[in-house]
Amino acid sequence: MSQILLVTTSPRGLESYSTQIAQALVAKLQAAAPGTKLVTRDFATSPLPHVGEDYIVGRMLPAAERSAAQATSVALSDALIAELFASDTIVIASPMYNFGVPSTLKAWIDHLARAGETFSYSAAGPEGLVKDKKVYLIVARGGVYSEGPMGGHNFQEPYLKTVLGLLGMTDVETIAIEGVAYGPEAADKAVNGALGKVAALAA
Ligand SMILES: Cc1cc2nc3c(=O)[nH]c(=O)nc-3n(C[C@H](O)[C@H](O)[C@H](O)COP(=O)(O)O)c2cc1C
Repeated sequence: MSQILLVTTSPRGLESYSTQIAQALVAKLQAAAPGTKLVTRDFATSPLPHVGEDYIVGRMLPAAERSAAQATSVALSDALIAELFASDTIVIASPMYNFGVPSTLKAWIDHLARAGETFSYSAAGPEGLVKDKKVYLIVARGGVYSEGPMGGHNFQEPYLKTVLGLLGMTDVETIAIEGVAYGPEAADKAVNGALGKVAALAA
């Protein structure tokens, strides 16, 4: 049975454009493949702890030598990594915050990127170990960054693609909902455009 991992990060509940479009995409994907398992992570309502000293030191130690706190920190990372490996499709919904991603999403990534677990280094450079995944990025932004003078300020999608690529996830499709701060008409247009892309993708 295939598995979808849906990661949402907006604190705006169902008002959130990124959450709305991600949920529409998941509904389409599930309709196209009945029986697909859905695993959800809502980092707005259930944020992860930031990686701290227990994790940073503990992950370098053999399991038997970890303190209880270190073992707990590494076990969380292990579980998140196992969840990622077990998923065939990953849908990540991210608002743009201050040109980047919400810190809750960054905290997830910090638990996932582990040398020897999700990527390895060799003389040829880093190699991603999380292979054969389909990733959808659903990104919402108040302004417009896909064209025009603000393009160079977009550290959201390029960052996500770079770090997902490091981990081996290179099949990444993006649906952007942008310009939503330019008024209700602009927001409606952006949402309808994104819904059109969802319909086309899942068809
Ligand atoms: C803390 C914060 C920072 C934001 N920073 C940016 C930004 O740098 N650029 C931008 O275009 N919009 C920015 N926005 C607007 C959001 O990206 C926009 O409202 C988006 O729709 C939020 O996603 P959501 O609808 O999924 O919650 C920011 C909003 C908040 C709350």
